Amino acid sequence: MAKIGIFFGTDTGNTRRIAKDIQTLLGAGLAAKPVNIRTASVEDLLQADVLILGTPTYGEGELPGLATGNATESWAEFLPKLASHDLTGKTVAIYGLGNQKGYADDFVSAMFYLYSAFKQ
Ligand SMILES: Cc1cc2nc3c(=O)[nH]c(=O)nc-3n(C[C@H](O)[C@H](O)[C@H](O)COP(=O)(O)O)c2cc1C
Repeated sequence: MAKIGIFFGTDTGNTRRIAKDIQTLLGAGLAAKPVNIRTASVEDLLQADVLILGTPTYGEGELPGLATGNATESWAEFLPKLASHDLTGKTVAIYGLGNQKGYADDFVSAMFYLYSAFKQ
């Protein structure tokens, strides 16, 4: 069974595309098929020893989700579910997409919220 789980949030598909690129580079033997966090459960994340988490930034430096005008739920709705679970020992890598030109003050800021939640 693949040990690396790739989970991403997205509204317009860019972060999904990068998730697929990462899986292709790692190979299907090492990394499982990327999963949209909208459809994932906490148990899905707990199954992987290593997590690669991708997020775009929306609003003004925020996580994607309904509050930032995205079409579906995303990381903003998922992260509160993590609170009662123990992720001790997991290795977590985070990647982020953003628009440096349009949002220079908040460029890829949502990565910080993912970092904080998983660090905690
Ligand atoms: C309404 C809106 C707000 C955005 N806010 C930010 C932001 O605060 N910081 C940033 O770096 N990028 C921001 N972006 C750029 C997106 O993060 C970027 O387009 C990203 O590639 C979208 O990823 P997705 O296709 O996976 O949804 C914003 C884009 C839109 C449309």
